Amino acid sequence: MAVVPEHRRENLEPLLVTTGNPDSIVSKFPLLDSAITETLRLCALPGSVRVAGRDVEFPLDNGGSFRVSSVEMVMLDTRVHNMREDFYPEPRTFKADRFLPGKDDSTDIPKIMSWGGGPHVCKGKVFAHHVMMVWAVTFLQQYDFTTHDVLPEIDPGSWNVIADPAVDIAIDLTSQN
Ligand code: HEM
Repeated sequence: MAVVPEHRRENLEPLLVTTGNPDSIVSKFPLLDSAITETLRLCALPGSVRVAGRDVEFPLDNGGSFRVSSVEMVMLDTRVHNMREDFYPEPRTFKADRFLPGKDDSTDIPKIMSWGGGPHVCKGKVFAHHVMMVWAVTFLQQYDFTTHDVLPEIDPGSWNVIADPAVDIAIDLTSQN
């Protein structure tokens, strides 16, 4: 978020539409781009359902196995991927810069599974990410905010792909105008 203030007085209009280079807002605010991906890594709940095309037997760590029969529906827990320690060191910690590209513009860090994957990957992911970027830039141009709360756990009763916090987070907002 530290990269945002220097762009505060800039005309946002060209960034609100995706004509031209749709990645323009991403390249202007790489830290915010990374912070949004990091938020989705931590807050997204499983949303990918598949139908088994044949009987499958999954081996379990305890020596047993878990059987899925043909045509049964399966929801994979994508959080197992998103919380992998070997992919994302200190996986429970929010690190805004975790997904920042390296000097050569590459990023070795594996993609998050919050959008699902394969042929049925979320078709709105570029749009949704873009809207979150525009919302955050617009918000930070208009308000300063602070919070004294520690980020809460996610609400286990959450029912959508983005989890709710277990308790409300108090935020002090100050308008810049
Ligand atoms: C933060 C916001 C969003 C998240 C986290 C999200 C996540 C997901 C996930 C996990 C799936 C299942 C993918 C899979 O089965 O592998 C999905 C599917 C889908 N999403 Fe999203 N989504 C979001 C916003 C949107 C928006 C804004 C749109 C449309 C404008 C959209 C359109 C779709 C469509 C059409 C599918 C079905 C794709 C298919 O079955 O081929 N999503 N989304």
